[in-house]
Amino acid sequence: MIYSNLKKRLDIKNPFNAPVFYAESVSSTMDVSHDLERENAPHGTVVVADFQEKGRGRAGRLWRGRGGENLLFTVLLRFQGFSAIPIALSLRAGLAAASAVEDFAALFCGVGETRNLFCTVKWPNDLMLDSKKIAGILVESDGKSVFIGIGVNVGQTEFPAELREKAGSLALKIGSASALKSARFRLLELVLARLRRELTAKDWRERLLDRLYRRGEAARFIAGRADSGSVVEGVLSGVGEDGALLILPHGAEVPSVFVTGELDVY
Ligand code: BTN
Repeated sequence: MIYSNLKKRLDIKNPFNAPVFYAESVSSTMDVSHDLERENAPHGTVVVADFQEKGRGRAGRLWRGRGGENLLFTVLLRFQGFSAIPIALSLRAGLAAASAVEDFAALFCGVGETRNLFCTVKWPNDLMLDSKKIAGILVESDGKSVFIGIGVNVGQTEFPAELREKAGSLALKIGSASALKSARFRLLELVLARLRRELTAKDWRERLLDRLYRRGEAARFIAGRADSGSVVEGVLSGVGEDGALLILPHGAEVPSVFVTGELDVY
């Protein structure tokens, strides 16, 4: 799909003052965003789709979802060079999305109801409600442009058997599936507003530590690639100044520092 073929724009607020393109179905919003980048689309250009044929997850996994139920988009960010890319950007995207999800859910609270959610960030950047993953974030970069792809399970209430234990959605948590689905682009506005501010925020680490999933608890971590076989068990103690994960292995006095890998905790 090429830029000029993306005819439909969503009429929503984009604080980056860039277009928000909508397509009913794409291969992946990541692919379209890469195309847009090559065609000189501006910083902050967004592509959102209701269905992806080949949605990408981290570590080469697929990201599947039912059409029109969830929020699936990629934001293109352009920087002068590698050193201008904000540190720990993928974690900060997670922080922005977590706050936006909470703001969005609050819009659906009835008078007198207390449905306020607390959305945590599972390192590196999954969003969790209780112990269910409700959103995934994939960040790709060529060292100058950054593509932040976010998939939030908004209105989906059924998941394939293999995901049922781990996946959740806003609808499963607070009900109102059809109202949530209809309002999904409002969530996009909220994420963009938070993301824009997050790019220059100085206090991201403190806020992240407050939201870090399973912080202070026992954790099992697969370092590096999923098939590395390098398993570390200890206490998830936090993240460093650069966003690296800190795990204090059982019996150790100094935390180990990890920049890639996956937590095996739910
Ligand atoms: C993960 O948790 O593994 C990351 C999932 C990222 C999914 C989103 S959906 C919108 C964007 N387009 C994609 O193909 N992937 C990201």
